[in-house]
Amino acid sequence: MSILVTGGAGYIGSHTCVELIKAGYDIVVIDNFYNSCKESLVRVSELTGKDFAFYECDIRDEEGLSHIFEKEKIDAVVHFAGLKAVGESCAMPLEYYENNVGGTITLCRVMKKYGCKKMVFSSSATVYGMNNPSPLVETMPAGGTTNPYGTTKFMIELILSDLYKADNEWSVCLLRYFNPIGAHESGRIGEDPNGIPNNLMPYISQVAIGKLPKLNVYGNDYDTHDGTGVRDYIHVVDLAIGHIKAIDHVLETQSLDIYNLGTGTGYSVLDIVNAFQKVNNITIPYEIVDRRPGDIATCYSNPAKALAELNWKAERGIEEMCRDTWRWQSMNPNGYKA
Ligand code: UD1
Repeated sequence: MSILVTGGAGYIGSHTCVELIKAGYDIVVIDNFYNSCKESLVRVSELTGKDFAFYECDIRDEEGLSHIFEKEKIDAVVHFAGLKAVGESCAMPLEYYENNVGGTITLCRVMKKYGCKKMVFSSSATVYGMNNPSPLVETMPAGGTTNPYGTTKFMIELILSDLYKADNEWSVCLLRYFNPIGAHESGRIGEDPNGIPNNLMPYISQVAIGKLPKLNVYGNDYDTHDGTGVRDYIHVVDLAIGHIKAIDHVLETQSLDIYNLGTGTGYSVLDIVNAFQKVNNITIPYEIVDRRPGDIATCYSNPAKALAELNWKAERGIEEMCRDTWRWQSMNPNGYKA
């Protein structure tokens, strides 16, 4: 079975490529390398001992995609490719809608043309919006997103749902990720953000390596156990394994299913700082600053549906997440750049 991975050179994509190969799938990767680099794919080959085809191709490029579907026999697609920075999406909404929504429509059109109707889509807990209480369950109303990035994820979920309604030969899994952190335990692949990171864990690891002087903790007056924001952090390898279960599922069924991929446990910002310090024996200087606009107090999953239907649950705890993040960062102080 051959799986096309769009955005396969990115953070979650590269870890998923490793797990797909380990599970015995052949993979074909496409990426436009806008926010990633070829070195991650070189390392996927090195880690798995397998070569695979990859194409520098943009998902908006219908001709380029068609050429790949003509050349390779593709059984299913894991679709990661897209822009993903919340702040940037507010400044550049058209680029976000064009890349994420437009690109997905083009990809689906080409898939349909070549009779490939099985897709696992990289969605986000952001589609639950601001108003649903945690633990978040798949049956809660989605929408009410607060930025164009989140809205693109919600719109794509609607588009794929309509596609399935119109043609039941499609089989689609919408995977709603919570907060992926950590890295492959080899320390060879991991998250390599451009510029100053927006998200908590990459920021902490750049403080740890001395690139940033201190962490700003965005508010300690939330209604949580220590006043700082609570999130459902999930090890990226557990998340990647969730995609293998989802691919097995779409290959076996004709349905549209939505799954949370989280641990079901919430940790606060200070819980994460403390765990990182303890596991890695490094002090993380921090300062409490104002809340970040758009943040909510608490966001964590109910992951029961993925366990019941995909037989998947996250196995790696917060210590492994902190340890593996630091192993990657300390072994690759400049990410994939030499
Ligand atoms: C963010 C995005 C979300 C996206 C997800 C991807 C926002 C508002 N939301 O979620 O749409 O799907 O990333 O992983 O950006 N924090 C600090 N200091 C920092 C960075 C973060 O205190 O320098 C706190 C935040 O206030 C929050 C927690 O750490 O309580 C996690 O933040 P972050 O890693 O940015 O993830 P989310 O906000 O959950």
